[in-house]
Amino acid sequence: MYMDEALEKDIMDFGTDIIASERFAKAIDVPHHSKDGNIAAHSLETAGIALRLTRWLNRHGASIDEVTTVRAGLLHDIGMTEDEVFLSPSREKGHTHPLEGARIAREEFGADDAQLDAILHHMWPVCCLTPPHTSEGWVVTAADKLCSLNEVRSKIRQLL
Ligand SMILES: [Fe+2]
Ligand SMILES: [Fe+2]
Repeated sequence: MYMDEALEKDIMDFGTDIIASERFAKAIDVPHHSKDGNIAAHSLETAGIALRLTRWLNRHGASIDEVTTVRAGLLHDIGMTEDEVFLSPSREKGHTHPLEGARIAREEFGADDAQLDAILHHMWPVCCLTPPHTSEGWVVTAADKLCSLNEVRSKIRQLL
């Protein structure tokens, strides 16, 4: 919905290794929010919103790193692909998937500190009391919320 061709190309360029990975393919099988939703689609959409927000803020004087917001957007919920996280009760999952996500992002995709911080704190303030420490983290947190609101809205539409 927030994606156009140019944006999609930039996301592919910044996150080719993530999008082409077996781990990301696994995310297609993890359902999320709407009936047809999954973690891979949600993560692509979040990365798209994050890139748009980053560019808008940078046009207004900010200095936010695009690669960080896109890669953290793609990886913020990757912890959901761990079976123990996926099968745990939703409240527990809310706390554990950022931790597992950060581990996967570091071990499998070489995420740096800025990306890890964004992943670790993206559930603020719902399941994480500490907010992100960087502008990139704030962008990913906001993009995730915007994306989730949109998905929940379409879920409600499907029910009515
Ligand atoms: Fe999350
Ligand atoms: Fe998310």
